[in-house]
Amino acid sequence: MKIIEYKSLLSEYNINELSSEQCKLIKLAEKSSLKAYAPYSNFFVGAAIKLSNGKMVTGNNQENSAFPSGLCAERVALFYTGANYPNEKIEKIAIFAKASFNFNQIIMPCGNCRQALIEYEHKQNQNIELILKDQKNNILISKSIANILPFAFKCDELKKI
Ligand code: THU
Repeated sequence: MKIIEYKSLLSEYNINELSSEQCKLIKLAEKSSLKAYAPYSNFFVGAAIKLSNGKMVTGNNQENSAFPSGLCAERVALFYTGANYPNEKIEKIAIFAKASFNFNQIIMPCGNCRQALIEYEHKQNQNIELILKDQKNNILISKSIANILPFAFKCDELKKI
């Protein structure tokens, strides 16, 4: 028997330690959260993606009265990007959440969004930087999605069928 260990490393930053590009992306994520359609959870999430052509694309969570039909902010932004800029690399994604109630932690992307994000990391063969900010200006950065999705699903053979 052998133990397989996986380490996740996140870096904590102050807002004044970020590049102007990272700050801009966070601002866009915050702005996008204001347009979220979240009447059922009152939890408003915004995501902003920076592409290799310099463009920044945003998305927010879109809920539905049939609950599972809704979609998270990250995947709204990601799939819009995939649909409209299929040949651009996704360099960074910033995520911000606020709610009509108080909560006390930095919001991490859900498991489905991590899997959706890592697909693009594999496709483009380049890491996607993940930037997370809470309402108190605490920042967490992960240099890749793989770092927060240990043992992700990947099966190259599926492409050959
Ligand atoms: N949500 C996101 O937009 N992103 C996440 O990573 C987690 C959750 C949304 C889905 C739903 O509209 C609301 O937040 C509460 O779960």
